[in-house]
This record gives sequence, structure tokens and C-alpha cells, in this order.
Amino acid sequence: MRKIFMIAALLMFGPANAHAEGNPVRGADQYKEECADCHSVVPGKNKKGPSLHGVVGRTPARVEGFEYSDPMKANATPWTPERLDAYITAPKKVVPHGIMKFDGMENAADRADVIAYLRTLGGS
Ligand code: HEC
Repeated sequence: MRKIFMIAALLMFGPANAHAEGNPVRGADQYKEECADCHSVVPGKNKKGPSLHGVVGRTPARVEGFEYSDPMKANATPWTPERLDAYITAPKKVVPHGIMKFDGMENAADRADVIAYLRTLGGS
């Protein structure tokens, strides 16, 4: 029993899940705090921002019924984890004159956790 606990703890907190990969459970909490006011994860449900269901790997500005800014519509680079990381670090640097009013997340580990969470919502 103790051994199983140790293995579980290692999987959750150990080097096997270094920050580069991110922790989706912690990411869900970060998401609630930082993103959920504006972004639903339910497909097709848009708030101030578009639904982020399946966003990982997708082409930007593809959610039906959401009025994106022109610069976001012109942004053709798919939302790879690296690109998402850059965007949520500094939205205005990646999409100048975009309309996401978010100052960015400074902590790289927190960003990796949020992206790990987004990856659990479909997409690639
Ligand atoms: C104050 C509201 C707000 C907050 C907070 C916010 N966003 Fe956004 N987000 C938006 C808006 C508005 C857009 C549309 C931007 C545009 O069209 O320029 C957007 C766009 C996006 C997109 C592009 C989606 C697509 O379909 O191409 C991603 C990815 C994204 N946000 C991720 C996040 C993440 C992750 C967080 C939390 C770390 C977050 N956002 C926090 C409002 C917000």
C-alpha cells in the first residue's frame, strides 16, 4: 500500500512530470482563476472570449459565432503548446492589437500546467 502511494506521489509530483509537461490537475485550478471568467471549455459556448475546447493544435480564430479581432483572424500559426505558451505569457506581443484583455502569466510552471489542462479538452 505504502509502495503504491509512493509511486502515485512520484507520478504526480516527481521528475517524471517535470514542468515542461505540466500538471493538468493544477492547470485546471489555474484555469479557473486566470481564464474561466472569459473562456468556457464547453464546445460552442463563448463568453468574453471563445470556447477553448480543443484549442491545442487548432488554427486560431476558428470558433463559430465568436467575433475575433482582425489581427487574430490574420494569425495563421496553429496553437501548438509552444505558441500557446508565448500567447499566455504576453498576449499583445504574439497578437498585437488583439482584444484579449489579459496581462499574461509570468510563471512558466503555471503556464505549462494550464496548457496541460487544455490538452485534456480534445484537440491534438
Ligand atoms: C478578460 C478576458 C480574457 C481572459 C482573462 C483570458 N482571455 Fe483568452 N481571449 C479573450 C478574448 C476576447 C479573445 C479573442 C482575442 C482576439 O480576437 O484578438 C481570446 C482569445 C484566446 C485564444 C485564441 C482562441 C482561438 O480560438 O484562436 C486563446 C488560446 C486564449 N484566449 C487563451 C487564454 C488562456 C489560456 C487564458 C488564461 C491563462 C485566457 N485566454 C484568459 C479573453 C480573455
